[in-house]
Amino acid sequence: MRELKIFSGRANRPLAQDICDFLNLNLGRIYLSNFPDGEIYCKINEDVRGRDVYLLQPTCPPVNDSLIELLVMIDSCKRASAARVTAVIPYFGYARQDRKDEGRVPITAKLVANIITRAGADRVLTMDLHAAQIQGFFDVPVDHLYAGRVLNEHFLAMGLKPSELTIVSPDEGSIKRAVGHVKRLGGKLAIVDKRRASALETKQENIIGGPVDGRICLMFDDMISTAGSICGAAKLVHEAGAKEIHVAATHGVLCGPAIENLQQAPITSLVITDSIPLSPEKAAAFPRIKVLSVAPLLAEAIKRIHHDQSISDMFSEPPPDVTE
Ligand code: R5P
Repeated sequence: MRELKIFSGRANRPLAQDICDFLNLNLGRIYLSNFPDGEIYCKINEDVRGRDVYLLQPTCPPVNDSLIELLVMIDSCKRASAARVTAVIPYFGYARQDRKDEGRVPITAKLVANIITRAGADRVLTMDLHAAQIQGFFDVPVDHLYAGRVLNEHFLAMGLKPSELTIVSPDEGSIKRAVGHVKRLGGKLAIVDKRRASALETKQENIIGGPVDGRICLMFDDMISTAGSICGAAKLVHEAGAKEIHVAATHGVLCGPAIENLQQAPITSLVITDSIPLSPEKAAAFPRIKVLSVAPLLAEAIKRIHHDQSISDMFSEPPPDVTE
């Protein structure tokens, strides 16, 4: 069996270290820095010839720097004769530009997939893509993980009663995800009718399904960027009489006015994962936030890919408990 090696870019080194701790491996030695003009320099400081190499780098803000750094790392490994290079991208940026919804716009998610493949990635391991079909944008195998179970375990540990719960989809794109959480956590389903008012603004006006009045509402999304969508949905659900509103998202991008938006929103708690690092300043500014680790999930997936074992077997959930 070819030796497994894991290296990390600078976007989320703590996550890479945690993955290595789970696998009882040393994090690979790599030197990354910037030239005075901002260009990225990379040197792999150990032998990778003939090895099964995993490069961890979420393409989170600064998005373009994170992406280029990933490409430079892939190129370094290919030129150093690694046998196989897997790009481990816990958060895949540019995912929301996944179709031509008007004339003369790019499909940047496809472009980024092309660049990563052309740089030499033999496989991709990623998590909660904004749209599952982005897997098809890559011409190499993609293993797609879901953090849903990690989020469910958090809510199950809170001991919430299904008879009091309503799972609220914050927009129509998240309905399938919400249905999955209803199956595991129980409760009723409601959907927020979100419409795009402009490129930067969304409006939430109606709630379909429910009830939400007097209920403990859980809202799941793939990502929180400026928090405009989730806070708009929370406001609507609060006005409709929700008793508590708990929000969960895999990727806490939390850029721009996100923290101010969250501070002003009627959100009881927010849970995200460590797919993207949360700065201590943001954590202090919004103390109702909790970060769950996806390191065990990624570590297990890396182990299985290395040993040519199934990834889908990791996602067979126990039967739903829907006793009301
Ligand atoms: C939308 O389709 C996504 O699932 C997220 O709800 C959205 O992209 C989050 O962006 P923001 O936090 O800026 O509203």
